[in-house]
Amino acid sequence: MINAVWAYFWATLCRSHLAEAKWFYGKYVPTVGEYLENACVSVGGPAAMFHAYILLGRTLTKTSIDCFKNGTEIIYWSSLITRLSDDLGTSEAESKRGDVAKSIHCYMVREGITEVQAKQCIKELINYSWKKLNKESAKNSLPRSMVNMSLNMARTAQCIYQHGDGIGTSTGAIKDHLTSLIVKAIPIEETCSMI
Ligand SMILES: *[C@@H]1O[C@H](CO)[C@@H](O)[C@H](O)[C@H]1NC(C)=O
Ligand SMILES: *[C@@H]1O[C@H](CO)[C@@H](O)[C@H](O)[C@H]1NC(C)=O
Ligand SMILES: *[C@@H]1O[C@H](CO)[C@@H](O)[C@H](O)[C@H]1NC(C)=O
Repeated sequence: MINAVWAYFWATLCRSHLAEAKWFYGKYVPTVGEYLENACVSVGGPAAMFHAYILLGRTLTKTSIDCFKNGTEIIYWSSLITRLSDDLGTSEAESKRGDVAKSIHCYMVREGITEVQAKQCIKELINYSWKKLNKESAKNSLPRSMVNMSLNMARTAQCIYQHGDGIGTSTGAIKDHLTSLIVKAIPIEETCSMI
């Protein structure tokens, strides 16, 4: 059973990359809707969440597969936030490298708006997605571990990309975040001794 589910996630992931490759080589600019539908998968969210779920030691039973089916909405919104934050942070560097058109580009070409307006639209879409994600995460029919994973994936993406690309063309902002989190001591007031 586990192999069938793995195969399913990998096949969907590959299909989404293939679609992007076709668009790129065909010089086709998808509509925002087309782009997002595909991009939510190609960002790797659903596949990553599924693997994380297994790595967390959860056993894959019929019930947990049903959970994934119940959780498609929450995974969708979380993946969308990840994708859009990624696009906001990396679109410039990626289109220079000749990567596939990102959401900003799709908005600009298909809706006939400027880059600044397109970025604003994407920020609004991220806000909207957070509302949806929060609503989904309040549902009792989903296991908490899945809810936490979805929230954390969206938070992490926003944190990594909020100052541009924290992974590909790091400006040092993420390094500063990490050193301040891990290396630098947090000053503790005398009155708050750790006893
Ligand atoms: C899926 O959701 C339905 C209703 O929303 C609920 O009755 C069912 O128990 C859920 N299944 C799992 C495996 O969480
Ligand atoms: C998104 O929501 C935050 C918090 O509510 C707000 O500060 C920000 O201005 C909103 N951004 C957009 C583009 O609507
Ligand atoms: C989910 O996150 C909440 C708040 O951060 C935490 O209290 C809870 O233990 C977590 N649950 C699981 C199953 O990871």
